Amino acid sequence: MPLSLYAFILCLMYLSSSKAETCQNEGEEFHRFFVVNGQPLHLPCPIYHGSMTENNFSVSWYKYGSKNPIGFDRMSRIHQHENYLKFIPAVLEDSEWYLCVLGNSTQCYQKGSKVEVFNYDEGVCYSKPTLYPAEGFTDQSISLQCPHMEAYFDDTSTKIEWFKDCIPLNLSSDQYYAIKNALTITKGTKENEGKYTCEAPYYFNGTRYKLSRTSDLVLRAPLKQSSPAIINPTNNIMHVDLGSFVSVTCTVLFKKESVAFDFIYWTLEDGDLIENYVGYNEWIIVGDLYTNSTNDNEHWLTVDLNFTAIREEDYNRTFFCSTTSGSRAFIMFKHPDPNFQGFLIVFFVSLVIVIVITLILFKIFKVDIVLFYRSNCVAKVILNDGKIYDAYVMYPKNTNRNSSYTMDIFALKVLPEVLERQCFYRLFIFGRDDIPGQATVDVIDNAISQSRRLVIILGNTSSEYRLENDFEQQIAMYDALIRNKTKVILLELERIADYSNMPESIKYIKQKQGVVRWKGEFTEANLSTSSKFWKNLRYRLPPEQPQSVEDSNYITTDDL
Ligand SMILES: *[C@@H]1O[C@H](CO)[C@@H](O)[C@H](O)[C@H]1NC(C)=O
Ligand SMILES: *[C@@H]1O[C@H](CO)[C@@H](O)[C@H](O)[C@H]1NC(C)=O
Ligand SMILES: *[C@@H]1O[C@H](CO)[C@@H](O)[C@H](O)[C@H]1NC(C)=O
Ligand SMILES: *[C@@H]1O[C@H](CO)[C@@H](O)[C@H](O)[C@H]1NC(C)=O
Ligand SMILES: *[C@@H]1O[C@H](CO)[C@@H](O)[C@H](O)[C@H]1NC(C)=O
Ligand SMILES: *[C@@H]1O[C@H](CO)[C@@H](O)[C@H](O)[C@H]1NC(C)=O
Ligand SMILES: *[C@@H]1O[C@H](CO)[C@@H](O)[C@H](O)[C@H]1NC(C)=O
Repeated sequence: MPLSLYAFILCLMYLSSSKAETCQNEGEEFHRFFVVNGQPLHLPCPIYHGSMTENNFSVSWYKYGSKNPIGFDRMSRIHQHENYLKFIPAVLEDSEWYLCVLGNSTQCYQKGSKVEVFNYDEGVCYSKPTLYPAEGFTDQSISLQCPHMEAYFDDTSTKIEWFKDCIPLNLSSDQYYAIKNALTITKGTKENEGKYTCEAPYYFNGTRYKLSRTSDLVLRAPLKQSSPAIINPTNNIMHVDLGSFVSVTCTVLFKKESVAFDFIYWTLEDGDLIENYVGYNEWIIVGDLYTNSTNDNEHWLTVDLNFTAIREEDYNRTFFCSTTSGSRAFIMFKHPDPNFQGFLIVFFVSLVIVIVITLILFKIFKVDIVLFYRSNCVAKVILNDGKIYDAYVMYPKNTNRNSSYTMDIFALKVLPEVLERQCFYRLFIFGRDDIPGQATVDVIDNAISQSRRLVIILGNTSSEYRLENDFEQQIAMYDALIRNKTKVILLELERIADYSNMPESIKYIKQKQGVVRWKGEFTEANLSTSSKFWKNLRYRLPPEQPQSVEDSNYITTDDL
């Protein structure tokens, strides 16, 4: 059977050569496998074409330039195990290209992988070319992985040790904590920069090998994130009419330093999306997200919020325009301000009415108010004007010496009874208090200048009426009035219809300030200080003086 054997060998050769020829070359793996001399390396096949089992794929490894696949003998330092090419351990001479061939009976693929083995650097636990770069930010927590360890352990119980610059880290301090194959630095500072080495044991054929990875950690200051600027709305209160159309555009400006991706949307007070608002898509329409950009440094995002007709429920609500980075600004609707001008007019008209009513009331109750005020507020104040009398009382004398003359009764009995006895006024009554024999002009002038008021009692009966010492009295009166500016009170004992016979001064005073008119008989009731007549008179008189003041200056005569 040599022929058939030959034919079989030929056939095998053909098959293997055709297989090699048809094997699809996928070039070289970009990733290099760096390993420190003496450490184990599991080199994975860099080809992937779907499920290994479903496609009945098998893997074989070759050293570049070698036609013989590397064997499966576990006792060999370099051997294939499953799909891996294992170097236990790797040594410097292993720095080579290795070819992985993946195939089934119909398909074949091949791809090269580079292994580079380095010695430890002098005096340290790592080799520079094998360093993994790592980055973090100061003031933030940093997570360091122990890279490419998954392929070496079946379980996660393997304890990983950590070193910083080849000195073991104190993992029980608050500054670090290690979970599985990651190390966390709680708060990065510049001092945390350095070479972090993670180390794990690897056991094979009864020998303990060391597996280690070293990361070169560099820390940077955190990126300054300028939060996006919401241009509109600007925390607005908008006064809008019920039923009116309102369009609010949320415009947000993103600067280059802003977070790369952001999004803007309308929400309600509680953060709920506007989509959950009762009027959404009924009378509220939210526009699409539009973006424009002038240059690389900034771009705008806009979203419209339109109300086709404002409803009652839209008032007093805050509609927020929010960004994913947390900024937000609101718009709130209020009813239009009430007509302010109208309000002002109403206000001022009311004010005028109030003032007028107050004035009228004051006019009506002036006497009561002033008397009340005096009795409650200034009654205890002693007028310190150096005057002795509150009033100088002047009245036409009865030339007939008729004792029933009402003028005398009023001036000498009624007036003192009420004003002096009840109200404690001090009166100088001409004809009662003057001392006979003194010059009339002197007496009058002196008395008037020491009086705060001048009371002139007027009567009607022309036959009876005339001022005694008419001429002298008038001269004295004018003199006193002009010099002392004494106020005059006109008192009508009865209604006087005709003033034509009166002196000009009396006419003038009556016209200027009116008169106090007596009404009725001299009854008990009419002698009450609270009657209208006495109130009016007291009002015109100066404030009543305190009762404690001595009446020593009086010459009281109860005759007549
Ligand atoms: C071989 O692998 C290819 C995919 O590359 C697959 O389509 C084919 O069915 C496989 N052949 C066998 C015999 O499994
Ligand atoms: C793939 O392998 C399985 C056994 O592993 C075999 O039963 C099946 O027939 C193979 N398929 C092909 C297409 O060779
Ligand atoms: C495995 O261990 C045995 C016995 O200790 C030793 O003779 C052999 O060289 C070892 N093989 C390898 C690949 O280290
Ligand atoms: C590690 O840190 C803990 C807590 O800070 C401390 O108690 C312990 O002494 C430290 N151990 C070493 C070896 O520095
Ligand atoms: C909202 O109203 C504005 C102004 O009328 C209009 O330009 C915009 O297209 C409206 N947007 C939507 C979504 O209706
Ligand atoms: C982009 O939109 C903003 C806001 O609407 C506007 O101010 C700006 O001019 C726009 N830029 C461009 C290039 O259209
Ligand atoms: C809105 O609030 C104001 C006062 O804060 C209130 O007078 C008004 O009635 C409220 N309007 C609505 C519609 O609730």
